[in-house]
Amino acid sequence: MTAAERAATTRITAARTTTDRDTAGPSAVLSAEGSAEPSAEPSAAPVLTAADLIADPGAHRVLTGDRPTGPLHLGHYFGTLQNRVRLQDQGVEMFVLVADYQVITDRDLADRLAEHTENLVLDYLAAGLDPERATIFAHSAVPALNQLLLPFLSLVSVAELSRNPTVKDEIAHSSQAAVNGLMFTYPVHQAADILFCKADLVPVGQDQLPHLEVARTVARRFNERYPHADGSAVFPRPRALISEAPMLLGTDCGKMSKSRGNAVALGADEDETARIIRGARTDADRRITYDPTGRPGVSGLLLLAALCQDRAPETIAEEIGDGGAAVLKRIVIESVNEYFRPLRVRRAELATDRGHLRQVLRAGAERANAIADTTLAEVREVMGAI
Ligand code: TRP
Repeated sequence: MTAAERAATTRITAARTTTDRDTAGPSAVLSAEGSAEPSAEPSAAPVLTAADLIADPGAHRVLTGDRPTGPLHLGHYFGTLQNRVRLQDQGVEMFVLVADYQVITDRDLADRLAEHTENLVLDYLAAGLDPERATIFAHSAVPALNQLLLPFLSLVSVAELSRNPTVKDEIAHSSQAAVNGLMFTYPVHQAADILFCKADLVPVGQDQLPHLEVARTVARRFNERYPHADGSAVFPRPRALISEAPMLLGTDCGKMSKSRGNAVALGADEDETARIIRGARTDADRRITYDPTGRPGVSGLLLLAALCQDRAPETIAEEIGDGGAAVLKRIVIESVNEYFRPLRVRRAELATDRGHLRQVLRAGAERANAIADTTLAEVREVMGAI
């Protein structure tokens, strides 16, 4: 199977989060009445296949997003961006959110926020998201979305917030001396991001699963506590669409991250791409083999070339044989530069019109606001016009 075939068959796999499988899980603790609640979810299928989506793309609404903290890199592209474009092209309704408020969870100042936000939109458009079909917006520009945070916060316990493993991890890596309240509560804000437009599918990486669980818990508890007069529910229970595309490592074999200088940005030029890949950590064995556990450096490079060439990493390894890391890196550099050339040309063209990027955000915010206003009105009605 080629890398792309593997991706096509495995990328679109919806995961139910632990709440569904594990009735004794943390989010089963706080019920609307304060006692333990059953959390079995009879309706949601555990796995959503690409075929399901293609069969009925109009039945789904997808929301996903990124923090505007810097340029997107190849890991973002193969991990999620490519998949978003595929979903859009299948006719699934897409919402893509720039999570600007989330930037100030782990730092005091949102550095160059407007620039990062516009560049994120630039990366989206270059990758193939189409603002005519996908709603691209910043959540700070949607007041009713943010107002949902208040009722939602009343549905989760402080103990639950403090148990969230992703928040714990971010706190451990935070540059701040003290943990601020937004850091502590942002998964609930993220629930508002997802639920304001009643999205049912959220393409995210593994690290975001605890947040999806919060969104599902908030939806369930809200529906239980505040049903419509006819008993129907206000919110769907969103599911994660887990990318099973193997995770790309950074050139230092750690998590790929622009701030660690171990990643190639989508918009990097060919020389910079070559420089970063040449600096990647490999090993002394001249024979090139695909062995992700035993040889993460070599295998990460092979995987990157494989994704770009749409071939199996093992085949590329065999072709290189005893060529060693130098040949491997030359092939990776050529593959990346060739694959991303059209995207980069598009990106450079789009970058000359900053006004257009701002216009995309304005139009997206307008659409998102109309939906958020409707949802907030519905929420206030079932809550007794609070
Ligand atoms: N927390 C996500 C991240 O750090 C970004 C994000 C914000 C998000 N709101 C979202 C992702 C809603 C999916 C759905 O990458």
